[in-house]
Amino acid sequence: VTKQIAIAIDGPAAAGKSTVSKIVAKELSFIYIDTGAMYRALTYKALREQISLTDEQKLSALLADTTIELVQGKDQQRVLVDGTDVTEDIRSSTVTNQVSYIAKHSSVRKEMVKRQQKLAQKRGVVMDGRDIGTQVLPDAEVKIFLKASVEERAKRRYDENVKKGFSSDFEKLKQEIEQRDQIDSKREVAPLVKADDAIELDTTDLSINEVAESILNEVKKATQDRGNTDESI
Ligand code: CDP
Ligand code: CDP
Repeated sequence: VTKQIAIAIDGPAAAGKSTVSKIVAKELSFIYIDTGAMYRALTYKALREQISLTDEQKLSALLADTTIELVQGKDQQRVLVDGTDVTEDIRSSTVTNQVSYIAKHSSVRKEMVKRQQKLAQKRGVVMDGRDIGTQVLPDAEVKIFLKASVEERAKRRYDENVKKGFSSDFEKLKQEIEQRDQIDSKREVAPLVKADDAIELDTTDLSINEVAESILNEVKKATQDRGNTDESI
C-alpha cells in the first residue's frame, strides 16, 4: 500500500494532466481532484447569469454563493454546480475560451485555493491544475510539471474532437490553446509556472502510459525515501 501522500500535477492545456492523473489515482487508489473543473464551473454559471468576466467583485460574490462538487461516478467524475450536473456543459468551447479571464482574479483564486486545500486534506490525493505545486499544495510530496509542444497539444485536442464526432479546425484550436497559455502564464496572481521542486516531463513524444509510469516511479521513489527515514528513527 502506497503512503497517503499528495501528488501535484501542473502544466498547460492538453499536456495530458487529467488523463494521466486519473490513471495514477486509480493505480494508487487515491482520490483525483480536477481543479480546472472548478474554474470552469464558475465560468459556466457566470456566463449563464450574464455576469461580466471582468467584474471581480460580482464574480467573487457569485462564487461565495455557489457550491461546486466533484463526485466520483462509475467511470467518470461528475461536476455539480448548486446540485445540478454540468459535467458536459463546462467543456463547451465557450467556457474553455472564457475561463482564463475568470481565473485571473485574485479574490476568486483565493476562495478556490481554500476549497481545494480542504478537498485535499484527506491525503491520498492526485490534484491537477496550474498552481497546485506552487500555491495549493506547496508541501506535496510529488510535484510534476507536464509539458508538450503546442502542435502536439492542439493535435491531441483535435483528435479528441474527431473521436467525439465534433467538427474542428486545427489552426483555430492551436490558437485558442496558445491564447489560454498566454493568459494563464502572464497573469499577476499565481501564474502557470513550474514549482522549483517539480519534476518536468516533456510528454510530446510519450504515450499516456509512459507518462503515468514515469509519475508512478517518482511516487515510488518519494515514498521509499520517506520509508527509509522512518526506519532510521
Ligand atoms: O483541461 P484543460 O487544460 O483544458 O483546462 P483545465 O485544467 O480544465 O483548466 C481550465 C482553466 O482554468 C485554465 O486554462 C486556467 O485558466 C484555469 N485554472 C487555473 O487558473 N488554476 C488551476 N489550478 C486550474 C485551472
Ligand atoms: O488535462 P489536460 O488538459 O492537461 O490534458 P488531457 O485532457 O488529459 O489530455 C488531452 C488529450 O491528450 C487526451 O485526449 C489524451 O488522451 C491525450 N494524450 C496523449 O495523447 N498522449 C499523452 N501522453 C497524454 C495525453
